[in-house]
Amino acid sequence: MDLGISGRRAVVCGGSKGLGRAAARALAREGAVVTLFSRSIEALKVTQRELSEETGATINIVAGDVTTEDGRKALLDAQPNADILITNPGVRQTPDPFGTITRDMWDYWMQAHFYSSLELIQAYVPGMCERKFGRIVSLSVSFIKFPQVGFAHTHAARVALSGAIAAIVREVIPNNVTINTVCPGLIDTDALQTNLHGHAKRGNTTYEAIVEDRLKGCPAHRFADPQEVGDLIGFLCANQSGFITGQNIINDGGVYQGLF
Ligand SMILES: NC(=O)c1ccc[n+]([C@@H]2O[C@H](COP(=O)([O-])OP(=O)(O)OC[C@H]3O[C@@H](n4cnc5c(N)ncnc54)[C@H](OP(=O)(O)O)[C@@H]3O)[C@@H](O)[C@H]2O)c1
Repeated sequence: MDLGISGRRAVVCGGSKGLGRAAARALAREGAVVTLFSRSIEALKVTQRELSEETGATINIVAGDVTTEDGRKALLDAQPNADILITNPGVRQTPDPFGTITRDMWDYWMQAHFYSSLELIQAYVPGMCERKFGRIVSLSVSFIKFPQVGFAHTHAARVALSGAIAAIVREVIPNNVTINTVCPGLIDTDALQTNLHGHAKRGNTTYEAIVEDRLKGCPAHRFADPQEVGDLIGFLCANQSGFITGQNIINDGGVYQGLF
């Protein structure tokens, strides 16, 4: 299926690795002009070379920290007119017992998992509305539908982001601008590996035991390949996807059991 986005300008946050890289790959395959944004310039250069060799698409890179105003400004200066925006805080969520979460920690996670995405959405939406085309995908986590013990701070920030998006979408859809949230479960990236090793260490058990436990809880009995999320994001950015907006779409192999 041709997604009809050849030549569209796409910005992909956290684009050098994992889910961001997979989203960038899906968009580049469709001929979008992709700007990858993350911190390490070395990692960006590697992904730039790999994706441009594989797809023939133009891949630009910008280095910066998405959780800071300076970082986001560097991105906006380099690509002020995106047609497609993939927000992805990149920052890996780590657990803390509720009783130990200080005001500074709540503020940190709001910066990392709320403002980092919201402020880019706010900056790019006016141009998208003017040009009558915009596709925004916010990369979140399946747990916004069933928040987990130990993750009150990060899950609260991500739920707040989905709430803000839900209020924004009806303002912008008349201009053919959509915003959807993708909520992955267990996807086999560096971040997942690090998380599982962390869980094993904290639980005084082995990595293999943690993997077995996670797979037991997943009806698909596997971790997904990052491209399974990347291609879903690509589809939501299609020209044909202009009637889908404000959705929080789970991609987790059947873990979430809710009807809605
Ligand atoms: N993998 C999963 O199972 C899974 C499931 C659900 C949700 N998620 C969420 O999806 C997001 C991406 O996860 P992933 O698995 O793709 O992680 P990953 O493989 O570690 O990739 C993270 C990407 O984000 C960039 N990044 C990290 N911190 C950044 C910052 N402060 N500013 C700019 N870029 C930054 C990284 O590059 P640099 O380090 O060079 O900046 C890298 O390109 C995370 O928020 C994660 O919580 C992951």
